Amino acid sequence: MRLEKYLVNCGLGSRRVIIEEVKNGNITVNGEIVYDERIDIEKEDVILYRGKFLKEKELKYYALYKTSGYITAMKDDNRPTVVELLPSWFPKESFFPIGRLDRDTEGLLIFTNDGDLNQKMTQPKSKVEKTYLVELFFSIKDEDIKKLELGVEINGHKCLPAKVEKVNEQAILLTIVEGKFHQVKRMIRSINNKVKYLKRMTFGKMELGNLKEGELREVLLEDLI
Ligand code: URA
Repeated sequence: MRLEKYLVNCGLGSRRVIIEEVKNGNITVNGEIVYDERIDIEKEDVILYRGKFLKEKELKYYALYKTSGYITAMKDDNRPTVVELLPSWFPKESFFPIGRLDRDTEGLLIFTNDGDLNQKMTQPKSKVEKTYLVELFFSIKDEDIKKLELGVEINGHKCLPAKVEKVNEQAILLTIVEGKFHQVKRMIRSINNKVKYLKRMTFGKMELGNLKEGELREVLLEDLI
């Protein structure tokens, strides 16, 4: 494993912090100061940070069926957050949601303490698919579906082609690989329609499946990506 990944898993900080700590000579491997975070380390190597042992944290993954009315944040002074949907035993301090759902959006939200997975699932270049059930105020025309499939423009940004499955005249399943602010709502606005109801059905390999509203379930990394 790369030293950098090991240090991320130990919760030492972001990659930027880790690069800085290594550059400053604060990490030793088997008693030797190392200055390159990209080196490979073995299980039996002794890694110390400022002379102290580090403990690799156990990486965990949870799927939550977010209901409407909660913002995707671990803290907010005024508005209810998704934390209110989490059970009291949930270790809120070290976990975070991967990506965001709007306050009025429902559906699948993943929580983890795995910074690497967070990056993998949210980086545009990773092209991780997300499928939304989108209910619309007005009937959708075939030509609008074509536009979404080719890639609509939102505020000067040309969206990547989306997959569209028509559910009925006023509902579609929309699959996208980007995650810009209000992406779905803005894509729908660009075809002169409006979102009435939005629910995330899948994220990567994970499906909302039979999760009940407000339910949290532990899942495996291989269920996600
Ligand atoms: N796109 C949106 O517009 N809102 C969401 O909550 C998720 C995707």
